[in-house]
Amino acid sequence: MAILDILQYPDPRLRTKAQPVDIVDEQIRTLIDDMYETMYSAPGIGLAASQVDVHKRIIVIDVSENRDEPHAFINPELQLDGEPMETEEGCLSLPGIYEPVTRFDRVRVESIDRNGRPATLEAEGTLAVCIQHECDHLEGKLFVDYLSSLKRMRIRKKLQKQQRIQA
Ligand code: NI
Repeated sequence: MAILDILQYPDPRLRTKAQPVDIVDEQIRTLIDDMYETMYSAPGIGLAASQVDVHKRIIVIDVSENRDEPHAFINPELQLDGEPMETEEGCLSLPGIYEPVTRFDRVRVESIDRNGRPATLEAEGTLAVCIQHECDHLEGKLFVDYLSSLKRMRIRKKLQKQQRIQA
């Protein structure tokens, strides 16, 4: 397994729309394993392939406290349900930034699993929010897009400052 580089906002590659996976082969399974390792080591609760510059419709998630409930979704299709719920969101592509975002508190996901079989999951709460956040990445959308443009500009400046210090 390998730890992959995570694209950092405002990298324009984060805006790429991901393409569906046609065949779930060894290459895809290796990518999923690498995405898990990258997510766990970051550490984060979710990662979309878009964030590691692979523009395929794959996301991985683990919102459990013990980091032992991994979920991988290939070609996920969402059906949003339930009530609006506001939570503080963060993203591995925007380290150190946390802002409130409102999403649905329930979601039904139809996807393909790592063995190429169709799978359905009904999720609520944090898992439901995380699935919506990661699926947005596949459309080239980031959680800061839900904020005001003024707030987004401030975040951009803060991150550019951080990146300069690191460089
Ligand atoms: Ni994210």
